[in-house]
Amino acid sequence: MVMPGISRRTLLRGALAAGGAGLMAGGERAGDLLTTDAAAATPWRSAPEPGPGRLHEITFEAAEREMALFGPGDAPVRIWSYADKPFPVVRVSRGDRIRAEVHNRLPEHVSVHWHGLRIPNAMDGVQYLTQPPIQTGERFTYDFAPPDPGTFFFHPHCNESGQVGRGLAGIMVVEGDERVKPDGELILAVKDWRLGPDGRWLEFSTPQGASRGGTFGTRRSTNDQRAFAAEVPAAADLRVRLLNLDSSRVMEIGIEGAAAAIVAVDGHAVRPIPLDRSGQETWRMGPAMRLDLLVRTPKPGAVAKIVDYQSAEPWTVAALAATGKPRRRGALDADILYRPVFPEPDLAHAETLSWTFMAASDSVASFADAAGSDPAQRLLMDSLCVSERTYWAINKLSWPNAADRRLPPPLGVLTAGRTYRFELVNATPHPHPIHLHGHVFRVVSSSERARMPAYAADTVLLSPKERVEIAFVATAGDWMFHCHILEHLETGMMGYLRVV
Ligand code: C2O
Ligand code: CU
Repeated sequence: MVMPGISRRTLLRGALAAGGAGLMAGGERAGDLLTTDAAAATPWRSAPEPGPGRLHEITFEAAEREMALFGPGDAPVRIWSYADKPFPVVRVSRGDRIRAEVHNRLPEHVSVHWHGLRIPNAMDGVQYLTQPPIQTGERFTYDFAPPDPGTFFFHPHCNESGQVGRGLAGIMVVEGDERVKPDGELILAVKDWRLGPDGRWLEFSTPQGASRGGTFGTRRSTNDQRAFAAEVPAAADLRVRLLNLDSSRVMEIGIEGAAAAIVAVDGHAVRPIPLDRSGQETWRMGPAMRLDLLVRTPKPGAVAKIVDYQSAEPWTVAALAATGKPRRRGALDADILYRPVFPEPDLAHAETLSWTFMAASDSVASFADAAGSDPAQRLLMDSLCVSERTYWAINKLSWPNAADRRLPPPLGVLTAGRTYRFELVNATPHPHPIHLHGHVFRVVSSSERARMPAYAADTVLLSPKERVEIAFVATAGDWMFHCHILEHLETGMMGYLRVV
């Protein structure tokens, strides 16, 4: 099995000079209106059942590799990765099976957690909870069939700030959701790197960062380029798979110079949600969140930009320079995906549970007190999975720190097959992207938004003081439930749910 990297589609890997002034060229007026209303009025087609599928045998070699991360001419960096480059891409189709053998050649134990995939709990890749750690020199084989099409990623689950911070993660694309083929595709993986000027790593976690919004990288990048630019076919429909693989950064994504719509959130299709090219309509993406866009690229010679407006200075995620003969005319019809296939929650018969994400200083209990006599209690043998410090909690319970290395009892026990409605309350002044393993949930309501597009996700961003409701059908297993700002999960804002 080949593992094409991000640069698989060479046409889209830009040869353009980076970030040149005046790249922005307005974009077209005619024919770039969205036909969302028409789409909403038409029935949403289901994907045909997949055939028997193929087996993909993959080998990952988790190792340190020295490379010029930002291209030749830059100081070499010692990255950690599963393959020859950071963020290898695994591309399969719905119905296919993956057998991934992981060899660990790193000085620390690792695992592979397949973020967002609804796969059996034993394949979920959480050290100590769902599998023993893959120690240095050891191997482990994951074997599963991804049930949902979409854009996903994978990463280890202990010392994530250090391991993912050095690049240990990858991208998974599961095909099978396109009713209409776009003209091209581009994967954009966004990550900041915490590097000093000499190419050495700076410390990945700091008390100031961990206790607030997270420790940020010193260099932003898209696909390991400081200013990502690509040539794309002109007036064409381009599917952009955008992933926020950063440890801490929240982005607010908009587009300039092209018509575009969100067609999937965290991999799962939505009826198109227009992104306004003037930056009026945007979508916020915390760490771990993904967005699939359909972009109608501009006329030949013009450049469209995907922009992050969250930073004080808007940052260009990607500059897309249109070349060649125009491919399409008329309005962008972004209604190209089939409806998603995950089980829909039964809201009328849901049980409601409430979770408050808070500072640990508000804690009155600890897992040690709550532990009682859980027979499944194991030891978290090493400090890779627990932090010295505790700043955060969920419902007053903090993930153990170095003083208490027992695996805590679950935050809650749920019944498989039943619909749960979770109320998620952010009692802090910081945003938190909250992730539940092994499930896809509907985002039902938010205290901040009167109207919300219908969408499903595996990670939902809670703004400061926001209250969000999600709903899902529970599947059997022990499933981690945590903030995806890596320093937050490492300093207390993590737990798990037991579904029986
Ligand atoms: Cu990307 Cu525990 O998750
Ligand atoms: Cu958080």
